[in-house]
Amino acid sequence: MMKLGLIGYPIKHSLSPWIHQQFLRQIDRNGTYLIYETKREQFQETIKKMKEDKLDGFNVTVPYKQTIMNYLDELDPYAAEIGAVNTVVIQNGKWIGYNTDGTGYLTAIESQFPMLFNGEKRVLILGAGGAARGIFYALCRASFHTVDIANRTIEKATDLLPLNITDKVNSRALSFQEAEESVQDYNLIIQTTSVGMKPAVKEQIISLQYVNRDTVVSDIVYQPLMTQFLIEADHMGASIHQGHTMLLYQAKLAFQLWSKREVTIEPLLTGLEDILKGNE
Ligand code: ATR
Repeated sequence: MMKLGLIGYPIKHSLSPWIHQQFLRQIDRNGTYLIYETKREQFQETIKKMKEDKLDGFNVTVPYKQTIMNYLDELDPYAAEIGAVNTVVIQNGKWIGYNTDGTGYLTAIESQFPMLFNGEKRVLILGAGGAARGIFYALCRASFHTVDIANRTIEKATDLLPLNITDKVNSRALSFQEAEESVQDYNLIIQTTSVGMKPAVKEQIISLQYVNRDTVVSDIVYQPLMTQFLIEADHMGASIHQGHTMLLYQAKLAFQLWSKREVTIEPLLTGLEDILKGNE
């Protein structure tokens, strides 16, 4: 019997319980995935409860990916460098923190567009929040030519640049206007903000009127599956990459850390798409 969970707020409608139940079924194990929806003032109390519940591991989501780092016994070096934890493995009572967000994104995009990983490609990240951080870090460790970051508050994009510890990858901070005028220079454009998320489905972060047909446009928003940003990309003839695949891959990597077993996301894809379409 595996005992797993999720801490965050708000998480009542999280899809993670469904996803991890599917993974448990794949490896033929019984288990539970508990939702610890926790407001700031209840955080200590929930942590205490989680210790009593003797979990095998849990996920951490907004707004606690940094806070949880104060409660760990060990920290994976990759998560330490990103400065955020989304997965905790519990071994002999010890809490060990990992981050599967960036690698989850990288695996998701690579599985659909392996050609982006051949040759020296140029990437533009839109947004400079927690999600952008993990993705930027993971991309800088894969050998791209350029990984630029554009953000409404340009200083926040500039603050992320030191995460690029390689001297091989070029990166600059841009304004949204600069980004909009140079979208044709990039092979991959990744939207990492919450703009366009349900219910504000008509919102779009920047215009894609100059995008190339051979560019891949990716959005980490998965509710709706086809954001306004992806609709315009598709209309312009670009390739599109939808956000639910990142959700699945970060979950897969977390589940593999807990169970030490390999699982696959393919059998979950249509089921998850049906759930998401049903929610639209
Ligand atoms: P997350 O952890 O989900 O990435 P976050 O850390 O709050 O969330 O970051 C949110 C990102 O979305 C930021 O890049 C934010 O831009 P600012 O740094 O300028 O605040 C961006 N964002 C949110 N709402 C936005 C909006 N309406 N227009 C443009 N950018 C927005």
